[in-house]
Amino acid sequence: MTETINAGTAGTWQLGDLTVNRMGYGAMRLAISGDGRLDRDQAIAVLRRAVELGVNHIDTAAFYFSPLRSANELISTALNPYPDDLVITTKVGPGRALDGSFLPEATPEQLRLQVEENIGQLGRDHLDVVNLRIGSTLDRGAGSLADRFGALAELRQEGLIRHLGISNVGPEHLAEAQAIAPVVCVQNQYGLTVRREDDDFVRLCADQKVAFVPFFAIASGAEDETVTAIARDHGVSPAQVRLAWTLHQGLNVLAIPGTGSVEHLEENIAAASLRLSEAELARLDGVNGHEPGRGE
Ligand SMILES: NC(=O)c1ccc[n+]([C@@H]2O[C@H](COP(=O)([O-])OP(=O)(O)OC[C@H]3O[C@@H](n4cnc5c(N)ncnc54)[C@H](OP(=O)(O)O)[C@@H]3O)[C@@H](O)[C@H]2O)c1
Repeated sequence: MTETINAGTAGTWQLGDLTVNRMGYGAMRLAISGDGRLDRDQAIAVLRRAVELGVNHIDTAAFYFSPLRSANELISTALNPYPDDLVITTKVGPGRALDGSFLPEATPEQLRLQVEENIGQLGRDHLDVVNLRIGSTLDRGAGSLADRFGALAELRQEGLIRHLGISNVGPEHLAEAQAIAPVVCVQNQYGLTVRREDDDFVRLCADQKVAFVPFFAIASGAEDETVTAIARDHGVSPAQVRLAWTLHQGLNVLAIPGTGSVEHLEENIAAASLRLSEAELARLDGVNGHEPGRGE
């Protein structure tokens, strides 16, 4: 697959007026990877290689930091001055203490500070896309997001944010947010073998021209015979099959695989050109007893 390594081979999607390749990159692991000791030069090399290979959508957050690393600082060091077409998506909501623990949901005033923090760290005068993260990685948020999303909508009006998204949410949150300001993306945990209850949500987002941006598309998956067999048939890795499956879930689905390895990065971007047949997709949908199209 090496001859076609380009993030553009899976096509593009509009985040509002911003065009992104559907295969992107998630920067969290650069700062929070294992013991947090990923080599700094390697992290910078991964980011630069991502852009070389056509990645123009990078997901990050000011709270992606460890005692030794900040994802935003690495992005700025590696890529600023930024390519014109690069879209950097950040997220705000929870804060993180220096010991890494998450702080309670931010107040509207704290959200403004978080937006300003991201702007400062990335060295920009505004943010392209900001997700309001209301739940945790494990749990979808509960309750209303109106106050917090309304606060971000005001920052959008002020020009500090171009487009808004929401993260760790359900369809009820999308409806609530859309009534306040346009939503360009939903970012939830979702993958071949995780959170398939969001199948219908992916389609609902597609109907509203909202991007669905799953995280842990690779990391959530335990090794599985069907995935491995299909990978073998294509001469690719199971991670590539999981990413390709993700991109086959709808044109509005954007991938943001994270890695601290240039080799894995190249594999992941190569998966943008991996086409799975209907028969293979049906086999994959049967993995772990999932019934195709169930969508509870
Ligand atoms: N909104 C939210 O609440 C939220 C929560 C979590 C994450 N996110 C976003 O989602 C992005 C993706 O999440 P993620 O990075 O945790 O999960 P991921 O992309 O599903 O998986 C990353 C893990 O898989 C490994 N990996 C990557 N490519 C591989 C390959 N080709 N072969 C084998 N292993 C591979 C990585 O290790 P190596 O480094 O060794 O490759 C890492 O351990 C994050 O960067 C972040 O931007 C958002």
